[in-house]
Amino acid sequence: MSSSETLNNFDPDNYPVWEGAGMEVLISQEELAQRIKELGELISRDYAGKKPAVVAVLKGSFVFLADLVRAIDIECTVDFLAVSSYGNATSSSGVVQITSDITSPVEGRHVLLIEDIVDTGLTMQYLLDNLATRQPASIKVCTLLHKPARARVEVPIDYKGFTIDDHFVVGYGLDFKQCLRNLPFIGRKV
Ligand code: IMP
Ligand code: MG
Repeated sequence: MSSSETLNNFDPDNYPVWEGAGMEVLISQEELAQRIKELGELISRDYAGKKPAVVAVLKGSFVFLADLVRAIDIECTVDFLAVSSYGNATSSSGVVQITSDITSPVEGRHVLLIEDIVDTGLTMQYLLDNLATRQPASIKVCTLLHKPARARVEVPIDYKGFTIDDHFVVGYGLDFKQCLRNLPFIGRKV
């Protein structure tokens, strides 16, 4: 691949899973950094004095979470849960299971759920319903990406990085067949 600079050094030869296809940068590292700084400021302001329980949905949100919490300058805790949705590589079936749960109770806490992407919305809807049963003081949603074209249920999104068209995207935590999470930008196949 010749134009590797414009693709943040993405070289398909190093990623056989991508089957030699091209990669277009949909959201650059600079755009991600700028937007996450803004989200961190908003969250810090909105949750001042509330010590939110930041809960990240693994695996896809791990890169976003790491940058986001460093843009938040108020006291907060960080916990993780993992879900699997029984779908194929690129679409969600809507059958969601929590495969690893948070380690501290959220009763009475202000929960801020962190996702990589809200696509059909089914994962987020399941998690919101599940967490609501644990009597938190409040629950809000922060997602890096939102793909409204594929929404099957409406989920409230309180903080959103970017709205994207109906592309399957990878990088910055998001995977294709468990790979490409390590790309520092959000890309798509071309
Ligand atoms: P939803 O339940 O359909 O909203 O999607 C939930 C999960 O599907 C997300 O948290 C991602 O892990 C995965 N997903 C959805 N769209 C994409 C994509 O474009 N690229 C990579 N993963 C995706
Ligand atoms: Mg995810």
